[in-house]
Amino acid sequence: MGNSRKFAPLAAAAVLALALASCSSGSGGGGGGGGGGDAASNLDGRGPITYVQGKDNSNVVRPLLDKWNALHPDQIVTFKEQSDNADQQHDDLVQRFQAKATDYDVVDVDVVWTAEFAAKGWLQPLKDTMAVDTSKMLPATVKTATYKGTLYAAPQTSDGGILYYRKDLVPTPPKTWDEMMGMCSIAKANNIGCYAGQFAKYEGLTVNVAEAINTAGGTIVGEDGKPTLDTADAKTGLNNLVSAYKDGNIPTEGITFQEEQGRQAFEDGKLLFLRNWPYVYNLAKADGASTVKDTFGIAPLPGKDGPGASSLGGHNLAVSVYSKNKATAKDFLAFMTSEETEKFYATQGSLAPVLTSLYDDPALVAQLPYLPVLKTSIENAVPRPVSPFYPAVTKAIQDNAYSAIKGEKSVDQALTDMASAISSGSH
Ligand code: GLC
Repeated sequence: MGNSRKFAPLAAAAVLALALASCSSGSGGGGGGGGGGDAASNLDGRGPITYVQGKDNSNVVRPLLDKWNALHPDQIVTFKEQSDNADQQHDDLVQRFQAKATDYDVVDVDVVWTAEFAAKGWLQPLKDTMAVDTSKMLPATVKTATYKGTLYAAPQTSDGGILYYRKDLVPTPPKTWDEMMGMCSIAKANNIGCYAGQFAKYEGLTVNVAEAINTAGGTIVGEDGKPTLDTADAKTGLNNLVSAYKDGNIPTEGITFQEEQGRQAFEDGKLLFLRNWPYVYNLAKADGASTVKDTFGIAPLPGKDGPGASSLGGHNLAVSVYSKNKATAKDFLAFMTSEETEKFYATQGSLAPVLTSLYDDPALVAQLPYLPVLKTSIENAVPRPVSPFYPAVTKAIQDNAYSAIKGEKSVDQALTDMASAISSGSH
């Protein structure tokens, strides 16, 4: 967007016209032309399709595809597995959509991409013959798949942050951030790192910064999408991360961690506390290499006075508007979000189901004791800013928070720059 300033006025006007055309194409619920593909075409198409999602750390996708493929030999689903970095997954999808590629039929859409992809006209609206029943799903998850009143994806798994801790070293988990920081002396005494989350410069950092600010009582943007970072609470939130890194409570290497590096460090016994998603639970319990199988516990994220505010995560399944086999894609969506599959996500991958009833299913809760903690996390979770210009918004958060944590910018300056970058990127 910023580049347009360098163009001659005429070219700039053309760019603007293009941008407006592509923004409006999907905003009315997929009607109209402009950018994007034809939502009315290929609705009866059946045949082989490709399913695209990020690295399947929990090994849930392949067994499900085996099951589907055995039942549908003439509608085989091929798995295109992306990297484990949320930003790379996003960029790969954008590239294929921009090329109007027909080889990505069903795509896994992170909850923060719905607005952008829908506004661009890249996702098939899930209405009429493509409609999906969302009545039994957690309302917050349905909202993440909806844009301007139209459903664009089938909620698949939700996500809420939880605190993994070493119950052999800390019998009672901290309830507040300050209490947790106070416990870092225990980590020091044991010669291990105290706390890590996701602090590499990518979407995970936005998740963690949003949590810090929301937990301190602040907000990143208001209802109108305008930044609201000029508050004492927002400052306290970001400052909590900045001081923790400066004091060594977040170990030096913590600034390079995505989800997987944090999980590894925790499983290796190198961390007292880890903020991560529920998928870590089953792996830390069952992974052959995990040294903390019997010594870790889980708790709600620590907050100001009680539980902290998690960022709402999760993944939804969308059909590309360019797919040639939308009837197959629709059936595959139903299969991937059925009650049986949702139970499988929970039992096999300790992923957060989107079906409300599963959180109160006594048999499941007995098997998966983390479910009540997870439900609390999701119920208190705060969505990240919803915007068709989300890439600019998250970049503003990542760049400035990263500089502040590294000590290259003051917290005040980082928040001021974040606010102005959000404002200039959000139109
Ligand atoms: C998880 C969340 C997703 C988030 C990502 C960040 O996959 O479900 O919402 O954006 O982590 O790394």
